[in-house]
Amino acid sequence: MYSPLLYIHSWLRWVLLALLVVSVVRGLRGGAFTAADARVRTFTVASADTQMLLGILLYVVGPMTPRSAAAFGAYMKISALRFFTVEHPFVMVVALGVLHVFSSRSRKADTDALRHRRWAIGAGIALALILAGIPWPGLPYARALFRLP
Ligand code: HEM
Repeated sequence: MYSPLLYIHSWLRWVLLALLVVSVVRGLRGGAFTAADARVRTFTVASADTQMLLGILLYVVGPMTPRSAAAFGAYMKISALRFFTVEHPFVMVVALGVLHVFSSRSRKADTDALRHRRWAIGAGIALALILAGIPWPGLPYARALFRLP
């Protein structure tokens, strides 16, 4: 179960990043807030939620996170383990909170301009946070850009 979870979590990152970029670009373009804009917003939040669910499962079953409170201290001392135990989940959960708040504010807005603005701001902040929280190549806790068998 671990390996499929890791593959999906790795590849879904690209779907989420693409949807966030599309959200920001469509928001900056402005104009009418169409059914397609609403769909992009829905799919973005849904992929972020799915990514979080996969992340929680990886946290529970994977080797990068501690299995006991006693092990937690030891994990904090090793940069790669600390990254996946606290830094990565923390940044991603904040990004997810931002997406939910701004998506809901966008849905409640009275005008198309405001719908676009609120969603583009939320997607932009989340994009920056998620980019900062991904284990990119070159970092001490680097992972492959494209996980292959
Ligand atoms: C929502 C946005 C998120 C994105 C874009 C994201 C992205 C990633 C990426 C790219 C990796 C490396 C995958 C690989 O090795 O190929 C990873 C690993 C991991 N992520 Fe996330 N993640 C997100 C959220 C979360 C959350 C919320 C959690 C925990 C609650 C989490 C827990 C983990 C864990 C534990 C690993 C390491 C898995 C292992 O190697 O065993 N992620 N994540």
